[in-house]
Amino acid sequence: MQQETFKLSNGLKFPKIGFGTYKTTLNNDAEIIELAIKSGYKYFDTASFYGNEQFIAQAIANSGISRKEIFLASKLWKSEMGYENAKHALEQTLRNLGTDYLDLYMIHWPRPDLKADWKRIDIETWRAMQEFYESGKVRAIGLSNFLPHHIENIIQNCEIKPMVNQLEIHPGHTQESAVNYCKAHDILVQAWSPIGRARVLNDELILELAEKYQASPAQICVKFCVQKNIMPLPKSSNPERMRENLESLNVNISQEDFWRLDTMPPLGWGGEHPDRERLS
Ligand code: A2P
Repeated sequence: MQQETFKLSNGLKFPKIGFGTYKTTLNNDAEIIELAIKSGYKYFDTASFYGNEQFIAQAIANSGISRKEIFLASKLWKSEMGYENAKHALEQTLRNLGTDYLDLYMIHWPRPDLKADWKRIDIETWRAMQEFYESGKVRAIGLSNFLPHHIENIIQNCEIKPMVNQLEIHPGHTQESAVNYCKAHDILVQAWSPIGRARVLNDELILELAEKYQASPAQICVKFCVQKNIMPLPKSSNPERMRENLESLNVNISQEDFWRLDTMPPLGWGGEHPDRERLS
């Protein structure tokens, strides 16, 4: 049971580590999510784009754990942006997840496509998000893959500020400018791919620190985020690794080693930038 929490600007508390669900239901079943619940995860990050909301609902129902003890976060996709579309998107997501509220709802990407008038579309979409928050259908509203110039457009034109922004963050890819902007605006940053899709696990510094702290390389990556006050959303299909990642809260990286990790050479990234065509 995780006790430690991150607090959002509206006072809501999230567990320090959540479970990322992208591609965890490729077999079209609830098995991996069920294993994650058994491993102790309480927070599940999904998106309409992942196509797995119904499996998460199934896993929670099978677990017998009450909905109130679980945190559910989802995102509306590029094709669901705009005021009316967003309303339909939330209703569909709530139906898929078998719930009448979300703990967090986000806009998945700032630009529906590179040619669209994204500033206007983001503001319209955010108007719907604010209504969802005010109606109690979602306990927090946020963004995903938004950079400072995208967030600023929302902040300049909104009543309710975003509470969360989700970014790709791991050692060797820390998006300092975006993270600093979020912190200055009291926006909790969440990290997708906090272990760099396992690519970063053989880096010499990460291996050195894993040995020093009697931890696994993945634990160094997950705890690195937590020590940066960023909420990591690691993914795994393996129950031992799921637990290992949760237990990274027990690893205490010294300030000196944290600085070394925070300033290490770039280790690559997932290749998705909101203002560019996909690299891969
Ligand atoms: P697996 O599902 O076999 O555990 P990210 O969350 O950064 O996108 O990384 C997910 C990848 O990292 C998956 O390939 C996952 O593989 C692997 N992974 C997750 N946890 C660990 C761990 N503790 N040790 C090694 N690899 C891990």
